[in-house]
Amino acid sequence: MVTWSAPGKVFLFGEHAVVYGKPAIAMAIKPRVFVTVRKSRAPHPAKSPYIDSCFDEMGVKGSVYINSQLPSSSGLGSSAAVTVATLAAINDEFGINNSREQIAEMAFNIEKKVQKGRASPTDTTVSTYGGLVFIMGASRRRLPPESFQMVVGNTMVSHSTSKMVEMVADLKKKNPEICDPVLDAIGGITMSAMHHLVDPVQLGRLMNMNNSLLEVLGVGHPALSRLVLSARTAGAYGAKITGAGGGGCMVALCPKHLKSRIASAIEACEARAFVTNIDTEGVRKEKDV
Ligand code: PMV
Repeated sequence: MVTWSAPGKVFLFGEHAVVYGKPAIAMAIKPRVFVTVRKSRAPHPAKSPYIDSCFDEMGVKGSVYINSQLPSSSGLGSSAAVTVATLAAINDEFGINNSREQIAEMAFNIEKKVQKGRASPTDTTVSTYGGLVFIMGASRRRLPPESFQMVVGNTMVSHSTSKMVEMVADLKKKNPEICDPVLDAIGGITMSAMHHLVDPVQLGRLMNMNNSLLEVLGVGHPALSRLVLSARTAGAYGAKITGAGGGGCMVALCPKHLKSRIASAIEACEARAFVTNIDTEGVRKEKDV
């Protein structure tokens, strides 16, 4: 029996646009998912398309126990973290010897299959390697770690990533003349952010612009808008939806001394908030029982 863990993530820039080959920047964050796998001839069904696919891909049978510090269906990449940690645990428990790269690739293919073909490798890359990552098309680059002071606000409104991705695809199909420039502009924001990674004031402004464009794409939600505005009012450099939107989480980039105030302002809107920072470690082994 082995236990592996993988971190969650926030998108600093570029969600949705990344599905169409535009650049994105995402960061692994502290809450982790812990997955224990045990060989078993008659395992209980996992009832998760992600976990079932992990066993199918690896061609073995086993039992799984999941202990998650990450809220699911909230835009923090919990499905990718579960998939990456499950694949790594199966790999170890059954002595399969796949490399980290192979695990990242398999996890991406599983996410893509469950999300009906539309998925970027962002979540699975960040969960596998940790740190700050730049993604564009098939290229993935780990950036030097930055000590961003972040507060994540969870609206507690659950969303489905695949439905939100499908909704944007539908909007783009019906209104390409509006959506294509918006996706290009999001890509432009991400490229600009690459030049300002050590300038939180400018990064915050870019996050605010990114948020407005996500709202144009229809992935906003009144509860998200409330949290974004309250974080900005409480002094955040910038705040935006993170992940697929339509509910789930937002993220605020904060001056260090205002983190608690911003978290309290978010919680005053009947949401949950936590202060977080970069997790430079990706998938890792926890314990061998
Ligand atoms: O909601 P999350 O954490 O699964 O993020 C989805 C991000 C999208 O860009 C909308 C989809 C993707 O696969 O990148």
